[in-house]
Amino acid sequence: MFTSRALALGALTLALGLSPVFAEQIDPRDTAITARQALMNLYSFNLAPLVEMDKGTIPYDGVVATAAAANIMALSMLDQTSIWIEGSDHGYLESSNTLPTIWAEDSYLSGKVKGMVNTSVQLHDTVGNGIDALQTAVVKLNKSCNACHVYTIENTN
Ligand code: HEC
Repeated sequence: MFTSRALALGALTLALGLSPVFAEQIDPRDTAITARQALMNLYSFNLAPLVEMDKGTIPYDGVVATAAAANIMALSMLDQTSIWIEGSDHGYLESSNTLPTIWAEDSYLSGKVKGMVNTSVQLHDTVGNGIDALQTAVVKLNKSCNACHVYTIENTN
């Protein structure tokens, strides 16, 4: 079992033309930024149908809305410790839009992540109850996205 995994890894590093040593030298801030942006894009992707129902560009569908909200809720509950490494900001890597001030207060970031968990649970619990409930929940969720986006270079929402 171990041997076949080790062999597979060896084949992969060969295929990629990387030595395992090089792989170990990747700065964790780079992978943190990539993972963070991926999480954000998944939030956006799942929020899209809810926003469209909110605006009336697609018809309200409680089942579709609840499924999208379940994804947002699950995403918000991922442990985010390693994607918010201090110093993984725009000053370190230009393609990151994170401002270093996000780490200014110790509890600030975890507070925003918790806020997002709470509003996404509410979203999931209520979004199936009709268009009015959806609209209220989407406004609340957007507020918790934006509460954190004040610490980005461009307003991403
Ligand atoms: C805990 C703080 C926080 C929360 C909560 C949050 N964001 Fe973000 N978001 C950020 C930061 C910081 C960035 C900049 C990431 C970077 O480039 O390093 C960002 C970037 C983004 C991006 C751009 C991603 C890219 O590819 O560059 C999108 C889209 C986005 N957020 C959507 C959302 C949505 C939608 C929500 C709510 C459902 C949300 N975010 C909640 C902090 C947050």
